[in-house]
Amino acid sequence: MAEALRVGIAGLGTVGASVARVLRDKAAELTRQCGRDIVVTAVSARDPKRDRGVDLGAAKWFDDPVKLAQTADIDVFIELIGGDEGPARQAVKAALEAGRHVVTANKALLAKHGVALAEIAEKKGVLLNYEAAVAGGIPVIKTMRESMAGNAVTRVFGILNGTCNYILTRMEAEGISFDACLKDAQRLGYAEADPTFDIEGHDTAHKLSILTSLAFGTRIAANDIYMEGISNITQADIRAAADLGYRIKLLGVAQRTESGIEQRVHPTMVPTASVIAQVHGVINAVAIETDILGELLLSGPGAGGNATASAVIGDIADIAKSRPGFQHAPVFGWPAKELEPYKKAQMRSHAGGYFIRLTVHDRTGVFAAIAKRMADNDISLESIVQQAAGPQTQAQKTVILVTHETTEAAVRKAVDGITKDGHLTDKAQVIRIERAE
Ligand SMILES: NC(=O)c1ccc[n+]([C@@H]2O[C@H](COP(=O)([O-])OP(=O)(O)OC[C@H]3O[C@@H](n4cnc5c(N)ncnc54)[C@H](OP(=O)(O)O)[C@@H]3O)[C@@H](O)[C@H]2O)c1
Repeated sequence: MAEALRVGIAGLGTVGASVARVLRDKAAELTRQCGRDIVVTAVSARDPKRDRGVDLGAAKWFDDPVKLAQTADIDVFIELIGGDEGPARQAVKAALEAGRHVVTANKALLAKHGVALAEIAEKKGVLLNYEAAVAGGIPVIKTMRESMAGNAVTRVFGILNGTCNYILTRMEAEGISFDACLKDAQRLGYAEADPTFDIEGHDTAHKLSILTSLAFGTRIAANDIYMEGISNITQADIRAAADLGYRIKLLGVAQRTESGIEQRVHPTMVPTASVIAQVHGVINAVAIETDILGELLLSGPGAGGNATASAVIGDIADIAKSRPGFQHAPVFGWPAKELEPYKKAQMRSHAGGYFIRLTVHDRTGVFAAIAKRMADNDISLESIVQQAAGPQTQAQKTVILVTHETTEAAVRKAVDGITKDGHLTDKAQVIRIERAE
């Protein structure tokens, strides 16, 4: 049998401790599958005394993850600390420079420094594997990098944040407000004490930036993503969406267009009958649309110790099975040096259908004025419905518009015009509609 693969784990929190436990519990199966043992020879975390629920006594302890990354006692460095700078970045860089393979679950690090790290990995002939960084346990990186050769991706989109999907699912199922759902999600451990990063779309944007690079062979551009979170989604939107045959999801979407690549994260209406609309709760999903394959949808657990550990261990097993001298697949599908610059399509040129919910004064002429603003901007309407705004608000009406395909620029101009006309009693709500099978 080949020599054991020696791994060093930096970070023994939710994911790191799960990885150590699964490596222990599944040692015999992994040895059979990989043709060699996988042994944890070194570990690092902040607190050496904390009980991790797994005996790591045989592994050498390092206070400093960079020292662990450089030790000669490991073949693979597993980074499960998190963060886009500091010890995670320094240790991953040090490990690659020392010629160690790296496995990480760190989307923030890859979104910011992924291309630079990939260049080091490719120069050193080692692997930088990161399946767990996007959609947790779903094997989307391998699918895009290795199983879709020859396909030209036209669009990739997904539900990439379990916290947001959990909140939207409960809002719809139970008719409760965003704030009440968020509080419950925090109590149940599905949302952080400071939930901004998740609910305002930053986490989705990090993951999307990695998918965009894999889909289109472009350099990662995590700062060039149009972003809107879910905190202003109300029961009125969810009910109106349902009446119209749609469900609201926070999607990350990357799409090739004539003017460049769109990267956007925002609440989106998808047809209730579409497959992605059936993805509920903390589950994640990624849809990949290509010229040969059509639309492929992968769904599954996007977070949690065991699901994330499953992806990390798949990455470790790939390294255990790889043979010295074998040419590895490039980190982002194309050699890092050949990734093209990212050509951004302006959000104003985005084309699609729109849902617009307006709360207006109940007076004559309002309906006609709204219709005129739409016509002035060449927006053709699929439907326009007027409703009572509610029992307490007899002086107000709700107008719900659904447009045929138009542009973001036209919608913004029309809504600005309606706002200036002085008919609105509240800010207009605009939600983009996404085509989905
Ligand atoms: N949790 C998930 O469901 C999930 C899903 C997908 C991806 N990820 C990614 O996986 C990574 C780890 O997430 P997590 O949820 O496991 O985080 P976590 O529970 O907060 O664990 C972080 C670990 O890093 C250690 N650490 C922090 N600073 C350190 C330093 N300077 N030196 C050495 N160790 C240090 C901590 O040590 P102590 O324990 O001693 O404090 C802790 O063990 C992140 O990049 C995250 O984005 C997580």
